[in-house]
Amino acid sequence: MNKDFLLENFINGIPKAELHLHIEGTFEPELMFKIAKRNNISIKYSSVEELRNAYSFNNLQDFLNIYYAGANVLVTQEDFYDLTKAYLDKVHLQNVQHCEIFFDPQTHTSRGIGFGTIINGIHKALVEAKEQDGITSKLIMCFLRDLDSDSAMKTLEEAIPFKDWIMAVGLDSAEVGNPPSKFTEIFNHARNNGFITVAHAGEEGPADYIWEALDLLKVSRIDHGNNSLDDKKLVDELVRLKVPLTICPLSNYKLRVVKDLKNHPLKKMMNMGLVITINSDDPAYFGGYINENYCAIAEALELSKEDIYLIAKNSINASFLNDNEKELLYKKVDAYMELNK
Ligand code: HPA
Ligand code: ZN
Repeated sequence: MNKDFLLENFINGIPKAELHLHIEGTFEPELMFKIAKRNNISIKYSSVEELRNAYSFNNLQDFLNIYYAGANVLVTQEDFYDLTKAYLDKVHLQNVQHCEIFFDPQTHTSRGIGFGTIINGIHKALVEAKEQDGITSKLIMCFLRDLDSDSAMKTLEEAIPFKDWIMAVGLDSAEVGNPPSKFTEIFNHARNNGFITVAHAGEEGPADYIWEALDLLKVSRIDHGNNSLDDKKLVDELVRLKVPLTICPLSNYKLRVVKDLKNHPLKKMMNMGLVITINSDDPAYFGGYINENYCAIAEALELSKEDIYLIAKNSINASFLNDNEKELLYKKVDAYMELNK
């Protein structure tokens, strides 16, 4: 049998965790049109096909413009439930055992949608997926870094009553010009309230932003982190502290962080000792869910079964599951590897 085909099968079946996934980025055009109709909201594209054809981006901001426009049709708790359920159903078929999902409350509260409407809808789908499919999950609330810190603080205060449902806070949206230092006080307040912290850094922004995320926001993971490679001391520090990077290959390609997947630094990063995971970021917009990301980068960089095994294990190790939960998943990955040697 063809070697690539065998590796694709191996990737599809391996138990894994997804750690960098924006729920608003899973909004497939078909569901968007359905929900828009239900809510009597018009979309500026006349068909699913026309909308999909608009998914061509020169940079992060290009993408964000379309991504925020799409999210505007989400209004009711049922909308957030349907969105989350569609993602979970999809990745259940991709052998995702655990996922850590970002959501962007400010995108919705700024339109008058209640915080409770958003989180109740998402949470309901997460509970059902655990009951029906055994998928575990955590929620990570992101602050939009292009908005001011007062808006972030207000959002954090709204989240505190839902603390039991939210594991961590993160930072996303337009990176350049919005350094982590802008949110030092917010992240201090979040940590004082028991939230873990993560941040997008070094996707388009400089290595300095990754230093700030580590030193000022005390993050447990760096989302993206591609530009860490510009700073040897930073790489040494990330390796020393074993700070995982949540890499998103198809996102990097579609947003032109890399010109070609063949130039993607993922394998080089692994060789340098960085803790690398593979994730889909915004799969509805970037042309692939988690397994498509694994397959695309595996093909481009000629990754081996052992590489895939290590990355899948990293995804569990880098998650916010407790040690017992991690142990159970390691066993599943090891049993799978044993069967498929
Ligand atoms: N970067 C920053 N913000 C985002 C992204 C991303 O890749 N996806 C959704 N919001
Ligand atoms: Zn992201």
